[in-house]
Amino acid sequence: MLKRNIYLLGFMGSGKSYWGRLLAKALDWSFFDLDAVIEETEKCTIKEIFASKGEAYFRTLEGKCLRNISKTTTPSIIALGGGTPCFGENMSWIQRHGISIFLNPPIHILVERLKKESEHRPLLAGKDEDALQQFIEEKLNDRLCFYKQANYIISETNSLIPKIKKLMEKNTLLLLHGALGSQKQLEPLKELLTLDFDVRTLNFTGHGGKAFGDLPFSIDLFTKDVLHYIDEQNLEQVNIFGYSMGGYVALNLAKLYPERVGKIFTLATKFAWSVETATREVKMLDPVAIESKVPAFAKALEMRHAPQDWKNHLAKTASLMLDLGNGAALSAEDFSKVQQKVVITVGSKDRMVSQEESEAIAKVIPNAHFELLEGVPHPIEKVDVQMISEKIKEEMLS
Ligand code: S3P
Repeated sequence: MLKRNIYLLGFMGSGKSYWGRLLAKALDWSFFDLDAVIEETEKCTIKEIFASKGEAYFRTLEGKCLRNISKTTTPSIIALGGGTPCFGENMSWIQRHGISIFLNPPIHILVERLKKESEHRPLLAGKDEDALQQFIEEKLNDRLCFYKQANYIISETNSLIPKIKKLMEKNTLLLLHGALGSQKQLEPLKELLTLDFDVRTLNFTGHGGKAFGDLPFSIDLFTKDVLHYIDEQNLEQVNIFGYSMGGYVALNLAKLYPERVGKIFTLATKFAWSVETATREVKMLDPVAIESKVPAFAKALEMRHAPQDWKNHLAKTASLMLDLGNGAALSAEDFSKVQQKVVITVGSKDRMVSQEESEAIAKVIPNAHFELLEGVPHPIEKVDVQMISEKIKEEMLS
C-alpha cells in the first residue's frame, strides 16, 4: 500500500497544481504547491524573485523549499515547479522521498494554456505565439531526461486520479538483482508487472554505477541497502522477487526483519556454499579470462557498473563468494527461521545452481515450496520474462 509523498512534475501548464489539488481532495491528503510555498517563504511573487534576485537565487530557494516540504510527516501531494527536477540534486531527492509522476500532455495543449498566462511567468514573458511554441519545444526537449526519471508518466492527465487510486491498492513488489547485475536488467520484468504491483528496483552498493563505499561486498551490506531503501521510501512491508544473489538477500532480510517482508519469490539463487563451490564460482570471475574469452560480457559489465571499475567489482564479488564458502553463508537453522511464504525456483538448464540445493532449502523453510522451471538457464537475460512474470503474479497475488 502506497504511503509516500506523491510528487507531480512536468512542464509549465501541464496541470501539476490543478490535478494536485484535485488528487489531494480525492485521497483526503494534504496538498503543497511548491511555487506557492516559495512565494510565501519569500513574501513576494516568483516573477518578482526572478526580477530582483535572478534565476540562480530562485533555484537555490526552490531546492531548499522542496526539502522542507518533504519533511512533512503525513504523506502529501506536492506539485513541483516546471524546472524543479532539473536543478541541483532535486530529481534524486524526489526519487528517494516518494513516488513521482510526470504529467506529459501534448505540446499543443501546453501552448494553448500558456499563451493565456505567459505574462505571469518569468521564463515566458514577452513571447508571441510562435516564439512560445519554439521555446516550449526546446525547453521540454532539454528537460525530458529529468522528467522521464519519474516513476510514472501520464499523458492523459484526466486519468491521473483513477490511476493513482488503483496504484494505492497495489502491494509493493521489490525486484532485487544478482551478484554481477544491476536494477536495469530487471526493467523488462518490471514493465510486465506494473499493472499488478507497485514495482520497485534498486542497485546494491557498488552495482549499476552506485559507489563502492568503504565496506567489502557482503550479504549483510546488501541487506542493509534494501532496509535503507524501504525505510527511506516509507514502505512498511515489501514483497520481493530476488534473482540469484537478490534471492539470498531477500531471505536474509526476512530472517533479520520479518515484519518488513511479505512474500518472497527467488529465481536461480545459489544456496550450497562451501570452499569448493565458492572456488568454482570465483574461477568464472577472472577479468583477464572474461576479456579474452567473452569480450562482449566484459563490455557489458564495464558499461553496467560505470563509473565504478568492473574489474574491481569482480574482485569484490569474488571475495564475497569466498566468504560465503568460508562460513558466512546462512545455515539451515537460519533458513528455518524464515516464516514468510517463499517460492524457490530454479531452471532445469541452470548450470550454476542445482535442483537439489534449491529443493533442500525449500524443505528447510517452513512455508516454502519449490518449483523447477523447465528449460530455463541461469542468465536473467535468457529467462522468458513473460513466463516468469506470470509465475510471480500467480504466487504473489494468491
Ligand atoms: C518554472 C516553472 C514555474 C516556476 C518558475 C520556473 C520553470 O512553475 O517554478 O516560473 O522553470 O519551468 P510552474 O511549472 O508551476 O508554472
